[in-house]
Amino acid sequence: MSELDPAAYSGVHTGPLRAGEWVSLTDAKGHRKSLLLDAGKTFHTTKGGLAHDDIIGQPEGVVVTTVGGLQYLVFRPLLNEYMVSMPREAAVIYPKDAAQILMRADIFPGARVLEAGVGSGALSLALLRAIGPTGQLHSYERRAEFAEVARANVEQFVGGPHPSWTLSLGDLAEVIEDEPIDRAILDMLAPWDCLEAVAGVLEPGGILCCYVATTTQMGRVMDTLRADGGFTEPTASEVMVRDWHAEGLAIRPGHATTAHTGFLVMTRRMAPGVIAPLRKRRPAPGAYGPDYVGPIPRNVRPEHLEANRTRASELG
Ligand SMILES: C[S@@+](CC[C@H](N)C(=O)[O-])C[C@H]1O[C@@H](n2cnc3c(N)ncnc32)[C@H](O)[C@@H]1O
Repeated sequence: MSELDPAAYSGVHTGPLRAGEWVSLTDAKGHRKSLLLDAGKTFHTTKGGLAHDDIIGQPEGVVVTTVGGLQYLVFRPLLNEYMVSMPREAAVIYPKDAAQILMRADIFPGARVLEAGVGSGALSLALLRAIGPTGQLHSYERRAEFAEVARANVEQFVGGPHPSWTLSLGDLAEVIEDEPIDRAILDMLAPWDCLEAVAGVLEPGGILCCYVATTTQMGRVMDTLRADGGFTEPTASEVMVRDWHAEGLAIRPGHATTAHTGFLVMTRRMAPGVIAPLRKRRPAPGAYGPDYVGPIPRNVRPEHLEANRTRASELG
């Protein structure tokens, strides 16, 4: 396979199952186990052993049976399954959010993407899949032990080092490379501390996505972006996916629905020296009242601030 094959390093394999590959075994209750196929080895269960050789050479989608009669369905793991089952040191971005990030941040084959932090490498895998072997993903992580877990997770899934991936150790704001990037994704506690660094390398029209877990982080990063002026008015959203159970007349929401994960704050980089036009809008009552301590957006004029603070104290 050539390095420029768009499927190269995607982690997707087809054809008969081979020794050295991971497979997912799913039992009749839907419980899943991962197995690294190794010729001559036996997988032991409470209902007897299963020879790896019974799986090697078979197509995906076969059913294999242990000596004691336990049946398993066999498939190669998909990227979205791997992202939530791989070893993790830090919380991962879930597939539902990663999918939305790829679309909203307009990640394309060949894109130059910056990502920080790396955590366990879940989003790195999704980004590498989308940019392909002709893109560049530069990921920054300040904790060495997390970076090592991420590297191992990525290399295990794609089958070795990915030619499009650079993983740098350190605080993004301090070690960021001076290289132009098309897209930036920040998944960290304090993305506002890295905005100036990202602004220095993000191409005009480039997209910045900040993934944050709490409403206070969301508010702070949005007001910092508004105060900066070099980014368009940010938007904030949350992805909700609901599983359903459908069986005869029993059709209802499933029990496996993921609760809150995080918020996506999206914005675009303005041209050099151009300041984003101010939104002609008064701040919501109390928005920047006496208890507010964050950055003040440029569209909040002193008279608005005064009126806002007076109104907030009237409301009590
Ligand atoms: C929630 S985890 C990222 C998870 C990752 N997106 C994934 O899908 O696996 C946040 C990571 O950001 C790292 N981090 C926080 N601030 C950072 C900074 N300024 N520069 C680099 N890494 C940072 C933390 O060490 C942590 O590993």
